[in-house]
Amino acid sequence: MPAVAPVPPQPLLEECHQRRQQLMEKIGQGTAIFASAPTAVMHNDVEYNFRQDSDFFYLTGLVEAGAIAVLAPHHEEHQFVLFVQPKDAEKETWSGYRIGMEQAKDLYGADEAYPLTELDEKLPQYLQKADRIYYHLGQDEKTNATVLRHWRTQLRKYHKQGTGPLAIEDAKFLLHPFRCRKSEAELTYLRRAMAAGIEAHLRAMDYARPGLYEFQVQTEMEYIFRQHFGEGPAYPSIVASGSNACILHYTENNRQMQDGELLLIDAGCSYGYYNSDITRTFPVGQKFTTEQRILYELVLEAQTQAIAAVQPGKPWNEFHDVAVRVMVEGLLELGLLQGDLDEIIKEEKYKPFYMHKTGHWLGLDVHDSGFYKVGEEWLPFQPGQVVTVEPGLYIRPDFKPAEDQPEVPERWLGIGIRIEDDVLVTATGHEVLSAAVPKAIADLENRHSL
Ligand code: GLY
Ligand code: MN
Ligand code: MN
Repeated sequence: MPAVAPVPPQPLLEECHQRRQQLMEKIGQGTAIFASAPTAVMHNDVEYNFRQDSDFFYLTGLVEAGAIAVLAPHHEEHQFVLFVQPKDAEKETWSGYRIGMEQAKDLYGADEAYPLTELDEKLPQYLQKADRIYYHLGQDEKTNATVLRHWRTQLRKYHKQGTGPLAIEDAKFLLHPFRCRKSEAELTYLRRAMAAGIEAHLRAMDYARPGLYEFQVQTEMEYIFRQHFGEGPAYPSIVASGSNACILHYTENNRQMQDGELLLIDAGCSYGYYNSDITRTFPVGQKFTTEQRILYELVLEAQTQAIAAVQPGKPWNEFHDVAVRVMVEGLLELGLLQGDLDEIIKEEKYKPFYMHKTGHWLGLDVHDSGFYKVGEEWLPFQPGQVVTVEPGLYIRPDFKPAEDQPEVPERWLGIGIRIEDDVLVTATGHEVLSAAVPKAIADLENRHSL
């Protein structure tokens, strides 16, 4: 069992209520519509596990397909309305429990709830006095079409009604600045997602050795995610040995690992819909080779300096720029790049080695909502935001240098390294939430007697 006693997650319903209130203050005379995530077919009539849309979950706490939430702060009786699948014993026997209209009100706090079949009949009363609709055009074309159809109807009636929504605005511009700053309760959930991720990475380090297959390490880790009451992996786990580590989203995980190689593991847990996203790279056997060690130290130094640049008030781009500069300096010293440091950075000639950004927001989505830039301005970090810091170097076996850059000698080929931690911006600095997973070379070598 896990070292920390796991706790089952519960939706933060009281916080969902506060979030709706907060959002409705911004909406004013508008009406906001949020839809559940669409279901997805795996094959024939079998579906993938349902994963609720993060905005919908953030506002309602409800994990049910097909539901639609309406926020209408200007409505006289119903500010929060849910349209849900009605209770139906026969249908529920086949496809699972539904909350139904009563619980939508009693448990999830809706002022009114209707069966989805009444959407066309009931939705207009929440739109006709609104001055605009807030809605995110999402992946589900059916819901998009429904919202647009209702908007068109309202526009047609405007000249007689004298009111109605004249515009649609993307709801994410209102909601995502809230979502990006985590409350204490959300941080508790993120810390539990971290605890599961940390334990899984520690287990992987204990367990991985030459001769095992990558998926054997993967299953050890994912077992731990579920033992922590996690829903499972936050994203398809990447367990990449040898040159597979140069494939950023490698998920086949079917290779037998060999001594002398590195193992890159990028895996995190989803717990109560909050995610950890952690990467470590360590020797499959006992020791780094000389080239592996040199590149690893470079990535670690880049990560250390990038984490130091995660501070409230610092602009978003700085930690990425810091990581790039450290790695380009190192690659120049090694002769793997040549020329002027600033020019290489400006012309992005390092990109064959490092082709992704150094991080992203983390929360209900692994690549969480929130803005990075407004106009030409990079936004400053704010307390309560959580960001990943994940520099890497990747030298594919068929590595092609940028124009005017040297060929890479063979001994460097096939090495892929990434180190990723999850960092909370605090009022005075930062806290590395995933710090308990070792990354110093001394802690990654000689882990067990083979
Ligand atoms: N594992 C996805 C990412 O690191 O962004
Ligand atoms: Mn990752
Ligand atoms: Mn990441």
